[in-house]
Amino acid sequence: MAGEMPDNVILVGFMGAGKSSVGRILATRLGRCFVETDEMITAMEGRPIPEIFADKGEAHFRALEDQAVQLLALKRGDVIATGGGLPCREDRVEALRAIGTVVWLSGDFAALYERALRGGDRPMLSGRTREQAAALYETRKPFYAKAGLTVDTTGLNPDQVAAEVLKALRGRARPPHPALSPSGGEGTSS
Ligand code: S3P
Repeated sequence: MAGEMPDNVILVGFMGAGKSSVGRILATRLGRCFVETDEMITAMEGRPIPEIFADKGEAHFRALEDQAVQLLALKRGDVIATGGGLPCREDRVEALRAIGTVVWLSGDFAALYERALRGGDRPMLSGRTREQAAALYETRKPFYAKAGLTVDTTGLNPDQVAAEVLKALRGRARPPHPALSPSGGEGTSS
């Protein structure tokens, strides 16, 4: 199975979309490594993301995301979950598309927001009202929409979303990454 889709699979989407849970399931099903940009940043700084925001502010966090994107260019064949704001800057989605298939886990705002609130400390939500968070989602949508594939997560659990992502990936023929060709990247599926 690992030969079917040789390049990285990169999940983008708003907080609460299930990028981490779905990414883990996908990685297991595909026999790939799983990488999270938030984990990379936590490791770089040696402390959790809420602390990075509190001490150094959002701009510093976004600069760390720049570094993470540069490191992602070294990845081959991984499943990568990105932070909700990572693709939402000029040229970021293009940079991600250069290293893999970008999949937007979309969904109704209400469902995403509920899940995001339940899912722990999120600095981008803590200072915002529900309306402000909804407005943030609207401003981000055009960036997410630049992904090559979109899977609507509304009403689905992470297993079901992962199955939909696999279906979408298989429905899309893509040539193998050049770096993988010699080691058996047969590349396209039906
Ligand atoms: C952020 C989303 C978070 C994390 C950081 C900023 C955002 O990731 O990267 O708190 O700007 O939307 P999740 O999307 O996994 O919550």
